[in-house]
Amino acid sequence: MSSPLEVHAHVPVLLRKVVNLLEPRPGGRYVDATAGAGGHLEAILTQSAPDGVCLGIDRDASALDLCRSRLQPFGSRVQFERDDFRNLGNVLARIGWGEPGSVDGILLDIGVSSMHLDHPERGFSFRSSGPLDMRMDQSHGQSAADLVNGMDERSLADVIDRFGEERFARRVARAIVDRRSSRAFVETTDLADCIASVVPRQRRQSADGAPAIHPATRTFQALRIAVNGELDALDSVIPQAVRAVRPGGRIAIICFHSLEDRIVKLAFSRAAGRCVCPPRLPVCVCGATVSVRVLTPKPLVATEDEIVQNPRSRSARLRVVEVVTSGANQGPTRDQ
Ligand SMILES: C[S@@+](CC[C@H](N)C(=O)[O-])C[C@H]1O[C@@H](n2cnc3c(N)ncnc32)[C@H](O)[C@@H]1O
Repeated sequence: MSSPLEVHAHVPVLLRKVVNLLEPRPGGRYVDATAGAGGHLEAILTQSAPDGVCLGIDRDASALDLCRSRLQPFGSRVQFERDDFRNLGNVLARIGWGEPGSVDGILLDIGVSSMHLDHPERGFSFRSSGPLDMRMDQSHGQSAADLVNGMDERSLADVIDRFGEERFARRVARAIVDRRSSRAFVETTDLADCIASVVPRQRRQSADGAPAIHPATRTFQALRIAVNGELDALDSVIPQAVRAVRPGGRIAIICFHSLEDRIVKLAFSRAAGRCVCPPRLPVCVCGATVSVRVLTPKPLVATEDEIVQNPRSRSARLRVVEVVTSGANQGPTRDQ
């Protein structure tokens, strides 16, 4: 059985819900900051025909090439920028959409794409042998091999614990450090075998029907998040997205694990004016302002049918907000 991190994603997840909630319209301007294979963008372009325009951003050059060729039929209605979405504000300024409120809707579909998982040479999959890379942007930065061969045991265990929520993080870190003292890790399967030697294999499905996962799943997820600085990027893009979208426009974010979903929930809640000061403070000091209205108090998830058609959608969580102001202070409401 394959895990949510490994199943290929040629079908865009939660497509109908994204389109319904983003409400692309003719003449609108939309951004998919995680263009990937272009599935969501294609639907947004179709829905906003004949003259809606889109920007596709991706930090991965190969993903953007794939997306560009898929969306060729839409001609000049779609443009592309290779960048990290943490630079969203700068990217929008570069193409002349930098004024606050210039955009009608923004989508982020976080995580790896099918292309990453399909190509063992990118180093994301532990099932096929490839170099331990995992960088979405291969032009710079540390690879997964740099981390597993270079970090001290404690920091490694912290990364695996925090980003992988792996119960056996300390055990895994110990095994990695032991093994690398005689031979550095080079290949994905080599690392996966080392992890599997100390993490018990789950035998059964979990209570919600999710398939048992490979022992290396959580550690690979942790390394991928660390290599790509994924949580920091997500945290920093949300205020930029709120600034970019016009009142009445929407921001939709799809996440695949609880760490990401927590960040989105908190950032949306903060943008909705929720005070996040500790309850013991007599007055609000966090400067909460009302900039959005949350349209999904609980995240939307895939239907059973969709999960059957596209197993990767099993762990997808969609949260959507509508921008109400560009950030004028309407006063905070205290968190209970
Ligand atoms: C799940 S895929 C998106 C799939 C896409 N929605 C589709 O329908 O084909 C996520 C994409 O986001 C890109 N990505 C992830 N983090 C990014 C970041 N910080 N900046 C820009 N692109 C990023 C990945 O390279 C990947 O191509």
